[in-house]
This record gives sequence, C-alpha cells and structure tokens, in this order.
Amino acid sequence: MSKILIRKGRLIDPLQGLDAEKDILIEKGKIKAIGDELFELEAQIIEAKGLIVCPAFVELHAHLRDPGQEYKEDLESGSRCAVAGGYTTVVCMPNTSPPIDSPETAKYIIHKAEKVGLCRVLPAGTLTKGRKGHELSDFYALKQAGCVAFTDDGSPLMDSKLMEKALELTAQLGSFVMNHCEDDRLAYGHINDGYVSSLTGLASRPASAEDLLVARDCVLAYRTGGHIHIQHLSSSLSVDIIRFFKEKGARITCEVNPYHLLFTEEELLRSYSRAKVNPPLRKEEDRKALLEALKDGTIDCVATDHAPHAPHEKGLLERAMPGMIGLQTALPMMLSLVREGFISLKKMIELMSCAPSRILRLEDCGNIKEGSKANLVLFDPDKEWMLEEGTNLSKSKNTPLWGKVLKGKVLYTIFEGRMVYRDVQ
Ligand code: DOR
Repeated sequence: MSKILIRKGRLIDPLQGLDAEKDILIEKGKIKAIGDELFELEAQIIEAKGLIVCPAFVELHAHLRDPGQEYKEDLESGSRCAVAGGYTTVVCMPNTSPPIDSPETAKYIIHKAEKVGLCRVLPAGTLTKGRKGHELSDFYALKQAGCVAFTDDGSPLMDSKLMEKALELTAQLGSFVMNHCEDDRLAYGHINDGYVSSLTGLASRPASAEDLLVARDCVLAYRTGGHIHIQHLSSSLSVDIIRFFKEKGARITCEVNPYHLLFTEEELLRSYSRAKVNPPLRKEEDRKALLEALKDGTIDCVATDHAPHAPHEKGLLERAMPGMIGLQTALPMMLSLVREGFISLKKMIELMSCAPSRILRLEDCGNIKEGSKANLVLFDPDKEWMLEEGTNLSKSKNTPLWGKVLKGKVLYTIFEGRMVYRDVQ
C-alpha cells in the first residue's frame, strides 16, 4: 500500500483540541506520524497549504436504495457521492426492497460495499419485520450480521409498547433505536402546516406530529434506560423536549439535516417538489431553534438524510416522493453557517465526524492520531463549484441546490490510507 505525505495542511482535530499547520505521513493504512517537517522519499505528496485537514465525515443517515431501487442510487454510486462529500463511513437506511430485516440482506450490503471499496457502509436494520410496525425484528441476528442500529425510517414506529420493548432489547445488545418521529395520523399530508399549505390548500404534516412522537420516545428512553436517536429533527418544540429529557439524564441523541438548518417552508415556492422532504421544511422560528440547539449541544450531530429519487418521482408536489440528495452538498451547506458565524469550523467537524462516530461507538474514525486508521478529508473552504451534470455523482438530482453556486469543496478523501476521492476540476 502506497505512502501519502500531506504537507502543511491546517489540521483540525476537535477531540485532541488540535488546530495547527502540520504534516501527516500515512503508511499501511494508518497515520504513521504527525509533525512539522516530515520527509518521506517514496510517498505521494499532497501539498495542502490553505486546506483544512480533518477526520473524515461519518454519515448516520443515508438512503442508498440498494437492494431494489438501483435506478435511484446503488451502493457504488452512493459510495462515490459519499467520498466526494468527505464521508468514509455511511449508515444506510433499511427502507430498501426487500427491507434490511434479514441477516442475508444486511450481509449483501456489507459485502457489495466492500467490493466497491470506496468507503465503509454500515446497514441499519429495520425496527419491525417488513417495516410494517407490527412485530419487532430479530435484533440479535441483525446485529450479528453487521447492523449498527435499528429504524423503520421513512415511517415512524407508532406502537408505544413495541417501542418500549425495542429500547430494552437494543440496550441489552449494546445497540440503539433510531426513530423517524412523525405521528402518521397527524402527518398524512405533504408539507408543513403553515404559510405554504394555506396558500396552496395542500394537506399538511404539522410540527405537532413530530413533537408528540419525540416526547413519547424521550419518555420511553428515560423510563427504560434505552438509547433513542431522534432522526432529522425539524421542530422547535421537539428541540425543547429533547433538551428537557437530556437534562434529566435520558440516553437521547439526535441529528439535524443541513436542509432544515438552511431552508424554511418558503423554499417550496422556489424549488417546488425538490424542496419536499419528510419531516417537512418548517418555519423560520423552527430553523432558528435548530441553530440555537446546534450551538448549545442539544443537537448532537448533522446527518444528510441523502434521499435520492428519479425525476418522474419528483413531479407534482402532492404526488412527489419526499427527500433530497445531500451527501455532496452537506459540507458547503455547513460551511455557510460557519461563515455566518453560527458555529466554528471546529464545531462543524465535531458535528459531522466526532459526534456520529461517538454515537456509533466507532473508535477508528472521528479523530486523527498517530497509530490510528487514516480516514481523512482535505477540503478548500473557499472553492466555488456547482452541483450539476459532471460534478454530481448520484444517480439522482433531487435537490434545491442543483445548479447553484456552492462554496467549499472536498479535494481529497482518504479511506484507511487509500486516496478514494480526488477533485479533478
Ligand atoms: O424525505 C424523506 N425521504 N424522509 C424520509 O424519512 C424517508 C426518505 C426517503 O426514503 O426517501
């Protein structure tokens, strides 16, 4: 395996409190040395002056659509998007076809992703068999097969008794539950209950649908001692509920999607069905509460909820499938919050790499130290580019950011010592 010498990059590792210009030597998949004037004759040199070098990002929530919906994405195209976005570990959601509710499907994903070889893909297993919400999956068998968490994402688990049991059982296995929190009796519509739904008359998905299930799951996590991870948080009241239960010591973690941090429901008027996502884009007061919660630590991490759909599935707003692609755009979106002064670069890296690694209890990512696996990203925070034909590596294009100028670009991604992405433009 070849050696790589990264010269004079600005190395930021929040875990070690490091922010300094350094050289990094990578050998045999690991960080061999971090220093000031490293020299290695045989190494491939990356001149990184002016670039940020940090632990590669870790994605807790991506829909890679494989098996079953490979016309939207597959493990190869999904892996390409991931590494182009700076991610070397990706948790893929189980709403595939068939769903990831058997060890065979979990193993298929792990083996295919290993064959692709660009990044590590870790499957989340379903919470319930067939994602039907009636009978819990065999968590033990799925964990043995490599599943790292359990969720019926795309749908909530409505049955409180099953959720209680799921929290108890996953805790016994040292694992956790992720839930898509929207009460489906209330959230049967398409967009937020607000300005755009009154303008268009479209059926809505109110924030109260999210708040109710967030509250229930927090109560159950508090009572059982199980670990709940709340997916794609979008409502201000849900933030308050989580803050309250975290203070009481419940084992709760949560993620936010960059789209919910940057956009409100009014984006629907500009981007139409491209801005349709579940839970929906909400009001400015929700967006502000999410930003506050990022700062004060109530929100643990950022996850993209990369959700590819084909053009024919993104037509009429009321028929369009919810979701946006996000693996390649997360970095520029988060950097825009850094530039506006909402968060520091260090905090951004914590949210995109250290915290998700911690939630998954992975020790081989989320930090940069001598002897550890070399999972790194190098990015130029100021480079401008567009997501368009030629740069987009997804099979899908469903994002409001299509064709817009983005600032901040991954230039190199290194996975276990191998350069798996290099920006060629
Ligand atoms: O917008 C969404 N799309 N939200 C989800 O929870 C599921 C996802 C999908 O699978 O397309």
